[in-house]
Amino acid sequence: MNLLIVYYSTYGNVYKMAQLVAEGAREVQGVEPVIRRVPELIPAAVVDSRPEMKAGADLQREVPPVTLDDFRKAGAIAFGTPTRFGNVSAQLKNQIDQLTSLWMKGELEGKPAGVFNSTGSLHGGQETTLFTMMAPLLHLGFILVGVPYSTQELFTTQGGGSPYGPGHVAGPDSQRPIDQQEAAICRALGRRLAEVGRKLQE
Ligand SMILES: Cc1cc2nc3c(=O)[nH]c(=O)nc-3n(C[C@H](O)[C@H](O)[C@H](O)COP(=O)(O)O)c2cc1C
Repeated sequence: MNLLIVYYSTYGNVYKMAQLVAEGAREVQGVEPVIRRVPELIPAAVVDSRPEMKAGADLQREVPPVTLDDFRKAGAIAFGTPTRFGNVSAQLKNQIDQLTSLWMKGELEGKPAGVFNSTGSLHGGQETTLFTMMAPLLHLGFILVGVPYSTQELFTTQGGGSPYGPGHVAGPDSQRPIDQQEAAICRALGRRLAEVGRKLQE
């Protein structure tokens, strides 16, 4: 079973979270994580003129862009975004809006999905972003999967991560590394989505 991890990331933090979600998915037998990025909407000239944006883009240069077939083939899907004013990024929302043809045919109905995100600050909108992302996913017919408190790191995290999904606090310069608790919560979502996806295919 493919577990699609589709994300947007300007500076690379959400990309690194996607890799951690993939690590968790790989722990489940028979599950293959597939990491895909959505199209950038920031003009290339702007990205090239900002060293920290360029470094983020360079980090992800080898990641293939997502296709509708990636969504069709997936048995479970994780959606990742940086927070933008307490909300989902325009780049990821743009991709979700392009799922209309699959929505019309009900092709995504019944697939499990989870959400993860990164913010600059601790109270900058992790939960609002995760909840905002969930609304279109419910319209599309996904079955939402979170991270329950059997994941002990939910009790100890000093950064991001909640039952609604993994989170990372990237700091004011977006350079704070993902810490151990945040990483464990990312892996937990990957593992859980993989397990639920497998069970639904039985
Ligand atoms: C236009 C814009 C709006 C942002 N809004 C928020 C916000 O509301 N709350 C917050 O904590 N961080 C905010 N940030 C910071 C980003 O969430 C942060 O850079 C991001 O999590 C880093 O992820 P990335 O490395 O994957 O791009 C904003 C950044 C930009 C560029």
